[in-house]
Amino acid sequence: MTEEMLQITGGIPLQGEITVQGAKNSALPLMAAALLCEGETVLKRVPQLSDVYAASRILNRLGCRCTAEGSTVSIRHSGAENCEIPDADMRAMRSSIMFLGPILGRMHRCTITMPGGCELGPRPIDMHLAAMRRMGVQIFEDGGKIRCTAEKLSGARIHLPLPSVGVTENVIMAAVGAEGETVLTNAAREPEIADLANYLNQCGADISGAGESTVVIRGGKKLTGTEYAVMPDRIAAMTYLCAAAASGGSICLSGANPRDMESCLHVLEAAGCTVGCCGSRIFLDRSGALKPVPYICTMPYPGFPTDAQALISAVLCTAKGTSVIEETIFESRYKHLAALMRMGANARVSGRTAVLQGVPRLHGASVEATDLRGGAAMAVAAFGAEGVTDITALHHIDRGYEHFAETFHSLGGAVRRCRFSASEREKQGVGA
Ligand code: EPU
Repeated sequence: MTEEMLQITGGIPLQGEITVQGAKNSALPLMAAALLCEGETVLKRVPQLSDVYAASRILNRLGCRCTAEGSTVSIRHSGAENCEIPDADMRAMRSSIMFLGPILGRMHRCTITMPGGCELGPRPIDMHLAAMRRMGVQIFEDGGKIRCTAEKLSGARIHLPLPSVGVTENVIMAAVGAEGETVLTNAAREPEIADLANYLNQCGADISGAGESTVVIRGGKKLTGTEYAVMPDRIAAMTYLCAAAASGGSICLSGANPRDMESCLHVLEAAGCTVGCCGSRIFLDRSGALKPVPYICTMPYPGFPTDAQALISAVLCTAKGTSVIEETIFESRYKHLAALMRMGANARVSGRTAVLQGVPRLHGASVEATDLRGGAAMAVAAFGAEGVTDITALHHIDRGYEHFAETFHSLGGAVRRCRFSASEREKQGVGA
């Protein structure tokens, strides 16, 4: 059997300008939210990713007509009222849970199973279900299926035990279809939430406070599809900036939103990079030595994002001194470090803390992507490393990055995507 791998020859400073892709973590909830609208929604700047194809499959199964042409996705509700998502589609990605709120908001019943997604430790859906119960939904679990029904969905006061991004989005979408007012407190403040609310408000919803801790949704409004451009992907942007930093390069991102990335840009500056912003452009230059960052703690927005933790760790592996990272959002998000250690990194993990002792240089190795951002972090490290790195299990990276190899290639990176025989590699004992 043949599989694909990325082959990266490190040591060439990345140079040039690229345009940032649309945000995966915004495009997916926006596609789900289109279920709430009559007529057609046209989403622009949708990244071409396997998770987007999975969301489009779900929409078609639910009775919508979802078609894509390049980065434009059109979604039209056909009036069919299928409200069950098959297990295989649920497992294809974590974001399948984003359909719970809009299906309930529209049809008041829904059958799902547990969602899949990256293995980052336990990823329960208890808060999603508890929030739906507060809105009058009854939930029964039978043989792995989670059946949700409501006579009617009612606005409610909902306080989240922690500011979950997915739960905040699901509550907003269900509440739009509920009768009365929903007040959501301790809501997540990630920019993707404001993007979702902007789209829904443009369709006719009445949502205020999105992007702040308290969101108020006045439900029951008739929504009509609209044309909407997905926000730029701040984590993809951070990935290319980190790769430039690791390789000692100098790049410019256009079509970015620097305001959404302040904590990331601040850490890159602390690591010895020169960063400048002008409108929607971000410049990064790393000509001097990388500096260690004494303490980085992942936090809900506006704190340093958990999704950028693996990426920055790949940079700090070659900073002169000790960096400490604390991961507070997910229990198990250091799997990529085993691969970085294979490349020569000196890292120690104790519980949720990782200590990186900088080494002068990493070297190429054969590694396997462990999850989406972990796989991207291996590529970041590879661009700064000496020699050739082979990265396998690319399906993880394909979930979140559009034209990954081509983008790096356009920055002068020596990278190619090629096929290999899995049995040959097994003989060589490859793995992270
Ligand atoms: N949690 C629960 N119960 C729930 C829901 C969440 O305990 O019912 C916990 C999670 O296990 C986690 C914490 O709450 O420990 C925060 O999770 P959150 O719900 O905020 O994460 P998510 O909505 O599942 C989104 C992104 C992730 C990103 C996190 C945190 C999407 C599609 N995914 O996930 O993105 O890491 O927010 O910012 O928006 C990625 O892009 O690689 C990625 C994993």
